[in-house]
Amino acid sequence: MKKLTTMFSVLALCAGMSAGVQAAPDTIKFSHVVAENTPKGQMALKFRDLVAERIGDKYVVEVYPNSQLFGDGKEMEALLLGDVQFIAPSLSKFSKYTKKLQVYDLPFLFEDMEAVDRFQQSPSGQALLSSVNSKGLIGLGYLHNGLKQLSANDPLRVPADADGKKFRIMSSDVLAAQFEAVEAVPLKKPFSEVFTLLQTRAIDGQENTWSNIYSKKFFEVQPYITESNHGVLDYMVTTSMEFWNDLPDDDRAVLKKALDEAVAHGNAIANDKAMKDRQNILDSGRSEIITLTDAERQQWVEVMKPVWDQFQDEIGPEVIEAAVASNQ
Ligand code: LMR
Repeated sequence: MKKLTTMFSVLALCAGMSAGVQAAPDTIKFSHVVAENTPKGQMALKFRDLVAERIGDKYVVEVYPNSQLFGDGKEMEALLLGDVQFIAPSLSKFSKYTKKLQVYDLPFLFEDMEAVDRFQQSPSGQALLSSVNSKGLIGLGYLHNGLKQLSANDPLRVPADADGKKFRIMSSDVLAAQFEAVEAVPLKKPFSEVFTLLQTRAIDGQENTWSNIYSKKFFEVQPYITESNHGVLDYMVTTSMEFWNDLPDDDRAVLKKALDEAVAHGNAIANDKAMKDRQNILDSGRSEIITLTDAERQQWVEVMKPVWDQFQDEIGPEVIEAAVASNQ
């Protein structure tokens, strides 16, 4: 009897051991710089949840928001080094890797987000997703945030109001040229530094979307926001070739489907979020929202649009034409 009990114990131990041998899920890190309550923040969380639901025995997605893991100066290098597997930088932050995506920064190019969407889904927009492949990166899809507004310490109604003022910009030469066109001083700074720069008045203003201005509390330290809708701030969800191509085919397909669904979710809420956050800013009474007359807006268009010519060769005239054609 004792012998039998011992045998059962050994068998039970073996079973336990074989269960224990099951490999732990691989960690996939998704790093970004914005708050969770934004289209990008929500998209990343949706991706995490879908992966947990569908393939959670093999992969676990960890989301790091608010530049917690890497700020925007470092996230692309971290991706290439394998320290993170997914990022979704603004399209304005890729100029070290491709000049083509600069098209998205051209001021007053898209009339509205529907036009942005049409361009992104067009053959020309889709081709731009692979413009970073030669640098070891893969663009897996576009994610919306929305149109940018101008915030400042003083009211900005016409371009002359921006003369001599310092504006924080993302790391984009097009955005630098856009502010130089109105005789302002552009400063390339990471997103994580913007609030302090504004609060301490080291800079006079910045450009961003309603959801970023609200979630990062820029409106609390910027008494004026001009509803200029002068450019777009969207993202490219990006991974590294090394990570992506090393995945087993079946797993890659499951991850891509989850990512596509998460992006669709982010895109579906982006416009609503923008409108709600605009309203939240209005309700706060902390910042005045300036609506431009057609004549005032036209002045910004006239001064900023010549920037297109400076970047036409780098971007490719055919890409710009396709983007313009999306404004039907
Ligand atoms: C910015 O730097 O202003 C934005 O790109 C932040 C973001 O990711 O939306």
